[in-house]
Amino acid sequence: MTHRITLIPGDGIGPEVTDAARVVIEAAGVEVDWDVQEAGAAVLEDEGSPLPARVLDSIRESRTALKGPVTTPVGTGFRSVNVTLRQELDLFAAVRPAHHFPGVATRHPGTDLVVIRENTEDLYAGIEFEQGSPEASKLADALDLLARYRPPVDAGITVKPISVTGTRRIVRFALDFARRHRRRKVTVGHKANIMHHSDGVFLRTAFELDRTDYPDVELDEMQVDALALALASEPETLDVLLLPNLYGDIISDLCAGLVGGLGLAPGANIGWEYAVFEPVHGSAPDIAGKGVANPVAILLSSVLMLRHLAEDDAADRIEKATASVLEEERVRTPDMGGTATTREVAEAIASRL
Ligand code: NAI
Ligand code: MG
Repeated sequence: MTHRITLIPGDGIGPEVTDAARVVIEAAGVEVDWDVQEAGAAVLEDEGSPLPARVLDSIRESRTALKGPVTTPVGTGFRSVNVTLRQELDLFAAVRPAHHFPGVATRHPGTDLVVIRENTEDLYAGIEFEQGSPEASKLADALDLLARYRPPVDAGITVKPISVTGTRRIVRFALDFARRHRRRKVTVGHKANIMHHSDGVFLRTAFELDRTDYPDVELDEMQVDALALALASEPETLDVLLLPNLYGDIISDLCAGLVGGLGLAPGANIGWEYAVFEPVHGSAPDIAGKGVANPVAILLSSVLMLRHLAEDDAADRIEKATASVLEEERVRTPDMGGTATTREVAEAIASRL
């Protein structure tokens, strides 16, 4: 069966790593009809938006996308392509496994965690009040009235909404994920002691959900700062981490660091209808165009995508071939201490399928 998949090369190292993913997926014998859709800074000038409607239309039709990173220009009027994509397609769950492969340098061999991040609410909902704007001043008046707090006149403000509805679906998603993957524990990270009405909703909703369908999954909770310490010192005590949007973003990078760095960390953004698979890393402007980006993160993202498309055999073969190249410690990119190019790593993996 031929799968139609939207391919967003992205920018920076995006085109280099998405090329590598195509090479390996095709070498695994999966038949794909790629619908290549450019997005990001490169199309902004010609099309007036970094995320033109055609990109969303393509994903709505194919239902599945493989995406390279897209640069988010700081301080321009445009919202992040990544955040917009997740919100427009209601990709409410980010799944980011952090699995240590033998042969990869780490202080914590055997680490095997999965971050599940709520992807649509929290401080990333995009409710922003620009410092010095008339809206910020009106909000200051309202806060003075409602909360007896007047923000400094020179304050910019971002609002943090977390809803019961938004939390329920991500909690159920995390418990389903844990059950399906035979994971023993889901730990909710929060600061409900400080933010009673946002993190508090997240924590309470998680524990209020009926868990009779998940008898084998323990639900635990930790304040996110204590969680950061536990991850750095004893990650083996943790399993699946369930986090609101902002903490999920930060803790995903931390977990990537535990298992060998951003060059190895895959991700999936999943909603009821669509799924977009992409590495955790960004466009890496410092190494873009040199052909030395590590393709493993996008290849492991492709493995998640192929499982989602019920191509389990190809997914298993790509994962095993990747693990075997990593274990051999011969063909690896500079971020892992090697001298190989992106292409050479992709070809070494493809040759072992
Ligand atoms: P980054 O993840 O692009 O880079 C951080 C560091 O990790 C850099 O030293 C980079 O060289 C290295 N690195 C990342 N991926 C690598 C790979 N595959 N192989 C080898 N080394 C790798 O984070 P940064 O620099 O904060 O962000 C750059 C841009 O990417 C920003 O505009 C940011 O907004 C955007 N970004 C986009 C994401 C997405 O499209 N999903 C996710 C994260 C950031
Ligand atoms: Mg991030």
